Amino acid sequence: MKFITVENYEKLSKMTSDIIGAQVILKPDCVLGLATGSSPLGAYASLAEKCEKGELDFSGVRSVNLDEYVGLDITNDQSYRYFMNKNLFEKINIKLENTHVPNGCASDLKKEGEEYDALISALGGIDIQLLGIGLDGHIGFNEPDDVFVKETHTVKLDESTIEANSRFFASKDDVPREAITMGMMSIMQAKKIVLIANGKSKKDILNKAFFGEITPRVPASILQLHPDVTVIYSEN
Ligand code: GLP
Repeated sequence: MKFITVENYEKLSKMTSDIIGAQVILKPDCVLGLATGSSPLGAYASLAEKCEKGELDFSGVRSVNLDEYVGLDITNDQSYRYFMNKNLFEKINIKLENTHVPNGCASDLKKEGEEYDALISALGGIDIQLLGIGLDGHIGFNEPDDVFVKETHTVKLDESTIEANSRFFASKDDVPREAITMGMMSIMQAKKIVLIANGKSKKDILNKAFFGEITPRVPASILQLHPDVTVIYSEN
């Protein structure tokens, strides 16, 4: 594992976009595993800029996102599909049909999970997976649990996650209580993983996740077992 500390969010974003950009250059039809939350916004803006300048071509790229809230569809501006379209997909030349986000409005969420895992396999797995980290150590929406769940599955969100994510909603009551998330198998099978974290509030959980015990109580700690993880952290 490489743990890189940078001075500020701008540098974190630039480094992240350089790594993802390099992947796109090396393998123009790569599969990008993408994340939401506030942390990747700077990297997405930088990728859009590189595409605009003609430095990157996403026309052959495929993408799979980590997660989605249950019950929010594309028209809801808090859905992760909406977030991805607005903050990245509409700003680069990726084909929308090559972008995938779990459907949190599927009538059968178990089937949706199975189909999402089958889709990731059919794409040949993920070349590079971008991750953020929740204050409770969640990756995607894999919340602290007694076990690491392998498959894409539905989860009940922890109180701390609902609290943390309420900043994006009109009120805490509006935050969905459930989400569908990629499981640990697809994440751990990604060839390369980049986890980004910004701000002092993430320091403790990063220490637990990357230098503490490997336990499903700290979901990100499983990443210690992955052969190619880069953590990029900025305290400011
Ligand atoms: C959400 C997402 C996670 C993300 C986390 C951290 O809960 N499901 O994938 O990593 O937020 O968000 P932020 O980057 O805003 O701290």
